[in-house]
Amino acid sequence: MVMMSELPLGPLPDVPEATSDPEALIAFEGRIARGERIEPGDWMPADYRRQLTRLIQQHANSELMGALPEGMWIPFAPSFKRKLALIAKVQDEVGHALYLYRAAETLGKPRTQMIEELLNGTSKYSNVFNYPAETWGDIAMIGWLIDGAAVVNQTIMATGSYGPYARALKRITYEEAFHLKQGYDVTVALATGTQLQRDMAQEAFNRWWWPTMMFFGPPDKQSVHTGILHRWGVKPKSNDEQRQEFLRKFVPKMIELGFDIPDKDLRKDPQTGDWIITQPDWDEFKRVINGDGPMNKERLALRRLIYDESSWLRTALDRHVPLPAAA
Ligand SMILES: [Fe+2]
Ligand SMILES: [Fe+2]
Repeated sequence: MVMMSELPLGPLPDVPEATSDPEALIAFEGRIARGERIEPGDWMPADYRRQLTRLIQQHANSELMGALPEGMWIPFAPSFKRKLALIAKVQDEVGHALYLYRAAETLGKPRTQMIEELLNGTSKYSNVFNYPAETWGDIAMIGWLIDGAAVVNQTIMATGSYGPYARALKRITYEEAFHLKQGYDVTVALATGTQLQRDMAQEAFNRWWWPTMMFFGPPDKQSVHTGILHRWGVKPKSNDEQRQEFLRKFVPKMIELGFDIPDKDLRKDPQTGDWIITQPDWDEFKRVINGDGPMNKERLALRRLIYDESSWLRTALDRHVPLPAAA
């Protein structure tokens, strides 16, 4: 769990008006080409600020919403040690959200507005957190496959061009690596356990295969955001490249653990070494992202309930604890 006191507090930076300025744009792209980090207050194209804010905000939302399916399983963890590890992981995820909302705030958007947009459904979050966690096997798969996918994604994004986001991700990926180990350990225990445990793991694996394939987003040729984010160093690798990196790491382990992979046409291209997959249902992806997945309404209702029930604390802090003066 990260502590908010470690975050740089103080007023938001002055935001220079990023109008169309060809000379400033050339200088900006030159900095990115040299591998320099862009920092709050630096000149940046309006579209860089807009796209980056959207991306970090959605990532922060995903961390906060991702705590819910696993948090629901804390009372039902099968042993004391499993419960301790799951509690620690869920706390980490909420901490990641705090880090990321703070990183997004450096671009000029207040956190209260971002939380409001999450709660009223106008800001999106990862598709995977709108699926049910029916059994303990789902907790294994979330920890192994989803945190595994997050490690691939966030390790790549941590090399990106915006300083506060890249630094937050560097720290977050240390904790995600622990989550992956936790998920893998639960998965191995189930996959090498009794027939009942193996069946539970396989059924959960079947449920999570397709959402995991969707996790990295639509294929590059359909993705509307990838081009500009790649050009400005926000997203160093494309959706398809990230998906391949995940498949190269995880498919051999899936086979080793004896899982039956639901994509019957999955095969390796002997020339490139890439895994060729059956495309998941991208219409389902769009529906889920846009609020019509199996658990969207329940999860957002729970998040609103938590927000409402903790309003007394925010009120108390706002009234009685002055923020430290800016350095
Ligand atoms: Fe996380
Ligand atoms: Fe995680």
